[in-house]
Amino acid sequence: MSSEHWWQNAVVYQVYVRSFADSDGDGVGDLAGIRSRLDHLVELGIDAVWLNPCYPSPQFDHGYDVADYFGIHAEYGDLAAFDELLAAARDRGIKIMMDLVPNHCSSQHRWFVDALAAAPGSRERARFYFRDGRPDGAGDAHGAPPNNWSAAFGGSAWTRPSADDSQWYLGTFTPHQPDFDHTNPDVQAMFAEVFEFWFDRGVEGFRVDAISPVGKHPELPDAPPVPEGTGMLQVTWENPYTVFRPEGHDVWRQFRATIDTYMDAHPDRDLTMVAEAYMNGRPDLMAAFVNDEQFHQAFAFDLLLSPWDKTEMERAIGDTLDLMDAGSTPTWTLNNHDVQRVVTRLGRDNATDPSTVTNNALESVATSVDIAVGLRRARAMITLAMAMPGSIYLYMGEELGLPEVLDMPDDRRQDPVFITTNGERLGRDGCRVPLPWTDDPSTNFGFSASPDASEPWLPQPEWWGEVAVDVVDQQDDATLDLYRELIAARRELAVPEGLGAMVLDLGDGLVAVRRGKLIAVTNVTATPIALDSDHDEGIADAMPVFASEPDELHTPGVIPPDSTIWFSTP
Ligand code: BGC
Ligand code: MG
Repeated sequence: MSSEHWWQNAVVYQVYVRSFADSDGDGVGDLAGIRSRLDHLVELGIDAVWLNPCYPSPQFDHGYDVADYFGIHAEYGDLAAFDELLAAARDRGIKIMMDLVPNHCSSQHRWFVDALAAAPGSRERARFYFRDGRPDGAGDAHGAPPNNWSAAFGGSAWTRPSADDSQWYLGTFTPHQPDFDHTNPDVQAMFAEVFEFWFDRGVEGFRVDAISPVGKHPELPDAPPVPEGTGMLQVTWENPYTVFRPEGHDVWRQFRATIDTYMDAHPDRDLTMVAEAYMNGRPDLMAAFVNDEQFHQAFAFDLLLSPWDKTEMERAIGDTLDLMDAGSTPTWTLNNHDVQRVVTRLGRDNATDPSTVTNNALESVATSVDIAVGLRRARAMITLAMAMPGSIYLYMGEELGLPEVLDMPDDRRQDPVFITTNGERLGRDGCRVPLPWTDDPSTNFGFSASPDASEPWLPQPEWWGEVAVDVVDQQDDATLDLYRELIAARRELAVPEGLGAMVLDLGDGLVAVRRGKLIAVTNVTATPIALDSDHDEGIADAMPVFASEPDELHTPGVIPPDSTIWFSTP
């Protein structure tokens, strides 16, 4: 497969809009703030930015509760600010991608407000899942939810608007996020318009949020019992009547048809749609979503969830590379706004335990963390990932080597996951702390443009200045340098090798991938490993061309602990 589309090898930088840069001093990131910091992204060498949802929203789930798909959240700016950002990015060769949330909207979306005011059976209610309650056994004929489904962030998936209402509505995540019924023609027409509206403004693609619960069994039957030991936030994802349903594929075919029709009318555009679903360990599933009729790409979360372990990493990489046979190119990522930052995750004392595949922050367990070890492994992991074919998504701050902020005071946490589980799950605030740009605490470490700014929406730790962009920019061995050099090296040494790649077994403790003449080798152990000439594929004599720890003296043929080296073979 040749590289025909920009997104097939793109480096995409995820901007969590609320936390990137604050231009107006209200302690909340905004679009003008992003524009003011574009040079940082140019120096990194990225191809595109993906913006987390920046539509009007009451922010119960920080934008994943959209009140209007055709506008900009007032704290972030307005459509004019969006157009200015897009133009400024385009001037610098950076494309803009947005985040589309199809499963649900906000309970403050006008359609939902209208639905609450309308009667059962109305056109307004038909856009969502309103169903009659069941008898509660205590005299209320509708006092119990229509079925036993639980919500992804805790509690029942059903909410009864009031005791007078015979109906309940479905919200797979929280009651603030009512699910759309995508078999409804109004819903279908609106999403087609959403695509066209943003493509007309110059957006080049969408990350499509939470695709797994879109489409439900038409009868909404009770879910079967979950396997023993299923975590409380995992229950939803075990429900066969709402997760990875055949009905969902109809929705993706409609979306793709909208995009293809748009591209037919605008042959200069090369648009993409990337699916977000945790399908790790299920390459068969992914193949069903990524094809000419549905998604162009789907995130491979396997490496993001993988322990620091040869077998698990080889499986993660192999599963993902195998998908290329199905016509897809991989979409790698090590971090996003929903998971613990990779530095912390790989620094945990259980990081090498092959059974810790669920490293998602939603399920996070308390273990001790060695940040220095985690950082070294994170640098090795990104160096391995950058060698591989496919696009790669970085999450803002990962280029600084930021760890997760674990010690945030409880009363400042805002993630609904923390709130609905009464703190039993820490949630995701720790990876969403507003970025440090300078060591000056009076400007929220450069996050806000002025010294009289309000406090940032999530508190920054005292040591935040030590990892600020301006500070690490002065350090020779900084992770920021590694990312800049790595993105350049990827373009120069990896991308020209084409899209084919395979896992190589170079012996115990080593994870290796060959892409054309390039071989990337990662040592996942704490001791140096000498390449064994019996199966070294000729690399013992080959030139190392890139290393995740460039300042270390390298003994030829030896891979230092917790590090990656790229070799160029003849
Ligand atoms: C997003 C989350 C969000 C959820 C509900 C996810 O997959 O990435 O941040 O809370 O969907 O929209
Ligand atoms: Mg602001």
